[in-house]
Amino acid sequence: MKLFLLGAVLSAAQSVTAALDASLLETYVDSLELTSSFNPVEAAYWTGYKHHRRTPFAVSPDGESAYLAYLDSSESGVHIQQVDPSTFEAVGTTVTVSGGQEAGGLVAHNDGFALLTNEAMPSGTTNAPSDSTPVPVLYRYTNGEQTWKTWLGGPDVESSEGYLASPDLNGDLVYSSDAGLYGAYFVVTAYSGSASGHYGDSIQYVNDDGELQTISGATSTWGCSHNTGIAFEAASEAPFASMCAEDQGAIWLNTNGQGMMDIGVKVSNENTTNGASGEPMGGMGGSYSQLVKLGSSSKYLFSWPTRGAIDVTLNDWMGEGYTHVLPRNLNRNVAVALFSDKKTLVGDQATSVIGTEDADSQINWITEGDADHTNVHAAAFGTDNALLTWEEISDPVCDEFIAMGCRGTFAGTHFQQVDSTGAVVGAAINSSDVYVAGDMVNIGSKICWPYVSMEWDLDGTVNEWDTSSSTTTKKISFACISLSGSGSGSSSGSGSASASAGASGSATATATASATASASASGSASSGSGSGSLSLSTSVAAETQAVSQTQTEAVPTSVDAISATEAVPTSVDAISATQLPASTDGEAAAVTARPNRGKGKCRAHYRH
Ligand SMILES: *[C@@H]1O[C@H](CO)[C@@H](O)[C@H](O)[C@H]1NC(C)=O
Ligand SMILES: *[C@@H]1O[C@H](CO)[C@@H](O)[C@H](O)[C@H]1NC(C)=O
Repeated sequence: MKLFLLGAVLSAAQSVTAALDASLLETYVDSLELTSSFNPVEAAYWTGYKHHRRTPFAVSPDGESAYLAYLDSSESGVHIQQVDPSTFEAVGTTVTVSGGQEAGGLVAHNDGFALLTNEAMPSGTTNAPSDSTPVPVLYRYTNGEQTWKTWLGGPDVESSEGYLASPDLNGDLVYSSDAGLYGAYFVVTAYSGSASGHYGDSIQYVNDDGELQTISGATSTWGCSHNTGIAFEAASEAPFASMCAEDQGAIWLNTNGQGMMDIGVKVSNENTTNGASGEPMGGMGGSYSQLVKLGSSSKYLFSWPTRGAIDVTLNDWMGEGYTHVLPRNLNRNVAVALFSDKKTLVGDQATSVIGTEDADSQINWITEGDADHTNVHAAAFGTDNALLTWEEISDPVCDEFIAMGCRGTFAGTHFQQVDSTGAVVGAAINSSDVYVAGDMVNIGSKICWPYVSMEWDLDGTVNEWDTSSSTTTKKISFACISLSGSGSGSSSGSGSASASAGASGSATATATASATASASASGSASSGSGSGSLSLSTSVAAETQAVSQTQTEAVPTSVDAISATEAVPTSVDAISATQLPASTDGEAAAVTARPNRGKGKCRAHYRH
């Protein structure tokens, strides 16, 4: 008893002193030189609004090596660069998976890495998809050499729905050393069989020798319909913890069942329109660092942006138990859900009772008000605390696309500590020039992630057709955040030391300066003190403006001109006309509009 009380007092004290403040955010601006160029901006599904393009990032279990994966700016070839986890500088030579078309997930090992990507199958492959449509594939590299490669779709993977391909790889890769398994969760389309032309998602497991494992109750070839959002986290055994955002009206924790059925847990009611549900897992470029295990506990935490939900009606097409809702708000606020284990929600599920007015009463809100919130991610500081982050859009325009993102004035990247119950600890800190654009990983007592240092605005669309003005960069920045008093003497000490050493100039840079010619003329710039405020700790290197800032002006087609109707080549009618019956294994298989990265549909509608 005495011990227990002491523990309680200690942890209360810790949570008081552990609140985040701006001095705890360290940056390593432009620390990583890339050997190839990278386009950090990706068009969102349907809207063409700007998203950060993901650069998967992972650190090895021994903490000695980190890896960053990025898609070549030509959109063909995924490069994997080893990174020093204390200086965030490049180590060794870049590995290139030349056929890769998306950096879809990365796991770091003590002796190498595994990459989830998608690529065309070799020509002449029997039953390969036509037109070189890429198929998901897992690569393992050991000490710089490929040790195995395992197709996760195509003719090698049995599926009652037909052979599967991933024209865009929206998904994630995780690894469990306890289970000796990689798990990959990704969006697929069938190119043969009953589901031909339709979109769903698949979960595949591969063992340490690169052998695909078909695990009953875990492997899935057709789970959620038109999934525009995946959240996936390892567990000590299969099935791993999985979530999907489907096109029928809900977000599911589907560790149990891998589908969109009520043997899973309905975490949220979301209005769905044109196949999307508000980009809860980030949409294009998203689907990472949103579902996170809290240290060695059995708990998981999930954070997402939502419009809230009202007015539950029956989803006629799916049938009893499935619902539709209207959005409560036009803008999205940040919410958090806690799971006591990989299959169990803490608190109530989202309601499925027809006629319910408040269809979001189960939600634990982190933010409130009229601003929009996007690019939501979560990471854990061990078992007791987690970090949530989001980008805020003030005065958002949200009524152009009802279930997609919003546009408006970028009002900072926010970092909020929460405890293991999801309750807010202290106030959020706010940065105008640090973004989250790749996996948030634990390095010592810190949480670190990659981003591209550039001016960020969320008020327009990506200019898709004028490739000459594409934004590219050859530098990746990193940021880390720690809780105060959480071992700053150990790993974070060396981190901030090398940050100041690496930035040798003297001028202080602001967010705006970070991408302009005048900042570059001043050469290397830096703060002196590693422990100052956010603006002080940001430094700018001469080459920073490799990231050109032509995006905003380069968009000739105003968003107004892209009306919802002409933006829809696959009309809602066309979607419902081709909807599928329930699949053979009883999972609801539904059809989907294509979650492309804007190359097909979006480009077509920009040209109207
Ligand atoms: C989503 O909300 C819109 C606008 O409020 C509504 O017109 C639409 O019917 C809703 N979608 C569903 C599937 O109920
Ligand atoms: C966060 O920073 C941005 C950009 O500097 C600013 O516009 C915004 O008002 C800040 N938000 C808060 C809540 O302090």
